[in-house]
Amino acid sequence: MIPTIETERLILRPLTVDDAEAVFQWTGDERVTKYMNYSTYSSAEQVREWLENGSSGIWGYVRKSDGLLIGSGNIGLDKSSGEEADGFWGFGYCFRYDCWNQGYCTEATKAMIKYAYECGARKFVSQHAVDNPASGRVMEKCGLTFSGYGSYKKMDGSCEFKSKVYRAVFEELPY
Ligand SMILES: CC(C)(COP(=O)(O)OP(=O)(O)OC[C@H]1O[C@@H](n2cnc3c(N)ncnc32)[C@H](O)[C@@H]1OP(=O)(O)O)[C@@H](O)C(=O)NCCC(=O)NCCS
Repeated sequence: MIPTIETERLILRPLTVDDAEAVFQWTGDERVTKYMNYSTYSSAEQVREWLENGSSGIWGYVRKSDGLLIGSGNIGLDKSSGEEADGFWGFGYCFRYDCWNQGYCTEATKAMIKYAYECGARKFVSQHAVDNPASGRVMEKCGLTFSGYGSYKKMDGSCEFKSKVYRAVFEELPY
Protein backbone atom coordinates (compact mmCIF):
# COMPACT_ATOMS: atom_id res chain seq x y z
CA MET A 1 0.00 0.00 0.00
CA ILE A 2 1.50 3.33 -1.02
CA PRO A 3 1.65 6.09 1.59
CA THR A 4 0.33 9.63 1.39
CA ILE A 5 3.15 12.09 0.69
CA GLU A 6 3.11 15.85 0.98
CA THR A 7 5.24 18.20 -1.15
CA GLU A 8 5.29 21.98 -1.30
CA ARG A 9 2.19 22.25 -3.56
CA LEU A 10 0.81 18.70 -3.79
CA ILE A 11 -0.57 15.81 -1.79
CA LEU A 12 0.20 12.41 -3.33
CA ARG A 13 -2.37 9.87 -2.16
CA PRO A 14 -3.77 6.56 -3.48
CA LEU A 15 -6.46 6.91 -6.15
CA THR A 16 -9.94 5.72 -5.17
CA VAL A 17 -13.10 4.89 -7.13
CA ASP A 18 -14.52 8.25 -6.08
CA ASP A 19 -11.90 9.92 -8.30
CA ALA A 20 -13.51 8.66 -11.54
CA GLU A 21 -14.90 12.02 -12.73
CA ALA A 22 -11.69 13.88 -11.92
CA VAL A 23 -9.46 11.25 -13.55
CA PHE A 24 -11.67 11.29 -16.67
CA GLN A 25 -10.70 14.97 -17.10
CA TRP A 26 -7.32 13.78 -18.41
CA THR A 27 -7.82 10.11 -19.36
CA GLY A 28 -10.62 11.29 -21.68
CA ASP A 29 -8.46 14.02 -23.24
CA GLU A 30 -6.55 12.96 -26.37
CA ARG A 31 -3.99 15.71 -25.87
CA VAL A 32 -3.00 13.92 -22.65
CA THR A 33 -3.40 10.27 -23.70
CA LYS A 34 -1.63 10.54 -27.07
CA TYR A 35 1.66 9.08 -25.82
CA MET A 36 0.30 7.00 -22.93
CA ASN A 37 0.16 3.22 -23.29
CA TYR A 38 -3.62 3.18 -22.70
CA SER A 39 -6.33 4.33 -25.09
CA THR A 40 -8.44 7.42 -24.45
CA TYR A 41 -11.31 6.64 -22.08
CA SER A 42 -14.81 7.32 -23.35
CA SER A 43 -16.64 7.82 -20.04
CA ALA A 44 -16.14 8.35 -16.32
CA GLU A 45 -17.90 5.01 -15.83
CA GLN A 46 -15.12 3.28 -17.78
CA VAL A 47 -12.58 5.04 -15.56
CA ARG A 48 -14.49 3.87 -12.48
CA GLU A 49 -14.17 0.24 -13.64
CA TRP A 50 -10.42 0.71 -14.04
CA LEU A 51 -10.16 2.33 -10.61
CA GLU A 52 -12.04 -0.64 -9.08
CA ASN A 53 -9.74 -3.22 -10.62
CA GLY A 54 -6.43 -1.92 -11.88
CA SER A 55 -5.27 1.20 -10.10
CA SER A 56 -3.64 -0.05 -6.93
CA GLY A 57 -0.21 1.48 -6.34
CA ILE A 58 -1.05 4.60 -8.33
CA TRP A 59 -0.92 7.99 -6.65
CA GLY A 60 -3.37 10.76 -7.40
CA TYR A 61 -1.78 14.19 -7.21
CA VAL A 62 -3.99 16.68 -5.39
CA ARG A 63 -3.20 20.38 -5.67
CA LYS A 64 -3.13 21.77 -2.16
CA SER A 65 -4.27 25.27 -3.10
CA ASP A 66 -7.73 24.15 -4.29
CA GLY A 67 -8.02 20.41 -3.54
CA LEU A 68 -8.26 19.54 -7.25
CA LEU A 69 -6.96 16.14 -8.39
CA ILE A 70 -4.68 17.19 -11.26
CA GLY A 71 -2.79 14.05 -12.26
CA SER A 72 -1.57 10.60 -11.36
CA GLY A 73 1.56 8.50 -11.48
CA ASN A 74 3.43 5.54 -10.10
CA ILE A 75 6.86 4.09 -9.46
CA GLY A 76 7.92 0.47 -9.07
CA LEU A 77 10.48 -2.16 -9.89
CA ASP A 78 10.84 -2.22 -13.68
CA LYS A 79 9.16 -5.30 -15.12
CA SER A 80 11.11 -5.50 -18.38
CA SER A 81 13.31 -8.56 -18.51
CA GLY A 82 17.04 -8.68 -19.15
CA GLU A 83 20.22 -7.51 -17.48
CA GLU A 84 19.64 -3.89 -18.51
CA ALA A 85 16.47 -3.77 -16.39
CA ASP A 86 18.02 -5.48 -13.34
CA GLY A 87 17.12 -3.65 -10.16
CA PHE A 88 15.89 -0.54 -11.96
CA TRP A 89 12.75 1.22 -10.80
CA GLY A 90 10.53 2.71 -13.48
CA PHE A 91 8.01 5.52 -13.19
CA GLY A 92 5.26 7.23 -15.14
CA TYR A 93 2.85 10.14 -14.85
CA CYS A 94 0.17 12.22 -16.54
CA PHE A 95 -1.53 15.51 -15.76
CA ARG A 96 -4.67 17.29 -16.87
CA TYR A 97 -3.88 19.57 -19.79
CA ASP A 98 -4.60 22.88 -18.06
CA CYS A 99 -1.96 22.07 -15.43
CA TRP A 100 1.01 21.46 -17.74
CA ASN A 101 4.22 23.48 -17.57
CA GLN A 102 3.85 24.63 -13.99
CA GLY A 103 6.44 22.28 -12.51
CA TYR A 104 3.88 19.92 -10.96
CA CYS A 105 5.18 16.77 -12.63
CA THR A 106 8.76 17.44 -11.59
CA GLU A 107 7.61 18.07 -8.02
CA ALA A 108 5.54 14.85 -7.89
CA THR A 109 8.18 12.72 -9.59
CA LYS A 110 10.94 13.84 -7.25
CA ALA A 111 8.67 12.85 -4.36
CA MET A 112 8.02 9.39 -5.91
CA ILE A 113 11.75 8.86 -6.48
CA LYS A 114 12.49 9.93 -2.91
CA TYR A 115 9.92 7.44 -1.63
CA ALA A 116 11.46 4.64 -3.72
CA TYR A 117 14.95 5.64 -2.56
CA GLU A 118 13.79 5.33 1.03
CA CYS A 119 12.50 1.83 0.13
CA GLY A 120 16.04 0.94 -1.04
CA ALA A 121 15.86 1.81 -4.74
CA ARG A 122 19.04 3.30 -6.22
CA LYS A 123 18.60 2.72 -9.97
CA PHE A 124 15.90 4.49 -11.96
CA VAL A 125 14.73 4.28 -15.57
CA SER A 126 11.97 5.81 -17.63
CA GLN A 127 11.21 6.44 -21.28
CA HIS A 128 9.18 8.87 -23.33
CA ALA A 129 8.10 9.07 -26.96
CA VAL A 130 10.59 11.04 -29.05
CA ASP A 131 7.78 13.43 -30.01
CA ASN A 132 6.91 14.09 -26.35
CA PRO A 133 10.00 16.00 -25.16
CA ALA A 134 8.34 17.63 -22.13
CA SER A 135 8.41 14.26 -20.42
CA GLY A 136 12.14 13.92 -21.10
CA ARG A 137 12.67 17.36 -19.63
CA VAL A 138 10.95 16.17 -16.43
CA MET A 139 13.30 13.17 -16.31
CA GLU A 140 16.31 15.46 -16.69
CA LYS A 141 15.07 17.79 -13.99
CA CYS A 142 14.76 14.73 -11.73
CA GLY A 143 18.42 13.87 -12.34
CA LEU A 144 18.17 11.17 -15.03
CA THR A 145 20.23 11.30 -18.20
CA PHE A 146 19.62 10.06 -21.73
CA SER A 147 20.90 6.50 -22.17
CA GLY A 148 19.62 5.40 -25.59
CA TYR A 149 16.66 4.82 -27.85
CA GLY A 150 13.91 2.24 -27.42
CA SER A 151 10.27 1.79 -28.32
CA TYR A 152 6.96 0.97 -26.71
CA LYS A 153 3.45 0.14 -27.86
CA LYS A 154 -0.02 1.11 -26.78
CA MET A 155 -1.57 -1.79 -24.86
CA ASP A 156 -4.17 -2.29 -27.59
CA GLY A 157 -1.37 -2.49 -30.17
CA SER A 158 -2.79 0.47 -32.13
CA CYS A 159 0.54 2.30 -32.39
CA GLU A 160 4.20 2.03 -31.58
CA PHE A 161 6.41 4.94 -30.50
CA LYS A 162 10.13 5.39 -30.85
CA SER A 163 11.31 6.39 -27.38
CA LYS A 164 14.19 7.98 -25.54
CA VAL A 165 15.30 6.08 -22.44
CA TYR A 166 16.62 7.91 -19.38
CA ARG A 167 18.46 6.38 -16.43
CA ALA A 168 20.07 7.34 -13.15
CA VAL A 169 21.94 5.59 -10.37
CA PHE A 170 21.72 7.57 -7.15
CA GLU A 171 24.03 6.61 -4.31
CA GLU A 172 22.79 9.83 -2.71
CA LEU A 173 19.69 11.66 -3.83
CA PRO A 174 20.49 15.08 -5.30
CA TYR A 175 17.25 16.55 -3.80
C1 LIG B 1 4.70 15.14 -19.62
C2 LIG B 1 3.92 15.84 -18.53
C3 LIG B 1 3.55 14.83 -17.45
C4 LIG B 1 4.75 16.97 -17.93
O1 LIG B 1 4.06 17.53 -16.83
P1 LIG B 1 4.32 19.04 -16.38
O2 LIG B 1 3.67 19.21 -15.04
O3 LIG B 1 3.95 19.94 -17.48
O4 LIG B 1 5.92 19.03 -16.21
P2 LIG B 1 6.83 20.16 -15.57
O5 LIG B 1 6.10 21.47 -15.60
O6 LIG B 1 7.36 19.68 -14.26
O7 LIG B 1 8.07 20.20 -16.60
C5 LIG B 1 7.83 20.28 -17.99
C6 LIG B 1 9.12 20.74 -18.66
O8 LIG B 1 9.04 20.43 -20.05
C7 LIG B 1 9.29 21.62 -20.79
N1 LIG B 1 8.59 21.51 -22.06
C8 LIG B 1 7.28 21.68 -22.30
N2 LIG B 1 7.03 21.47 -23.61
C9 LIG B 1 8.22 21.18 -24.19
C10 LIG B 1 8.61 20.87 -25.52
N3 LIG B 1 7.72 20.82 -26.51
N4 LIG B 1 9.92 20.61 -25.74
C11 LIG B 1 10.83 20.64 -24.75
N5 LIG B 1 10.51 20.93 -23.45
C12 LIG B 1 9.22 21.19 -23.19
C13 LIG B 1 8.80 22.72 -19.91
O9 LIG B 1 9.32 23.98 -20.30
C14 LIG B 1 9.34 22.24 -18.56
O10 LIG B 1 10.74 22.42 -18.45
P3 LIG B 1 11.40 23.70 -17.71
O11 LIG B 1 10.93 23.66 -16.28
O12 LIG B 1 12.86 23.48 -17.85
O13 LIG B 1 10.90 24.93 -18.41
C15 LIG B 1 2.59 16.45 -19.08
O14 LIG B 1 2.91 17.22 -20.22
C16 LIG B 1 1.57 15.40 -19.45
O15 LIG B 1 0.74 15.02 -18.63
N6 LIG B 1 1.61 14.91 -20.71
C17 LIG B 1 0.68 13.89 -21.17
C18 LIG B 1 0.96 12.54 -20.54
C19 LIG B 1 2.37 12.09 -20.81
O16 LIG B 1 2.90 12.32 -21.88
N7 LIG B 1 2.96 11.42 -19.83
C20 LIG B 1 4.33 10.93 -19.93
C21 LIG B 1 4.43 9.74 -20.79
S1 LIG B 1 6.14 9.22 -20.92
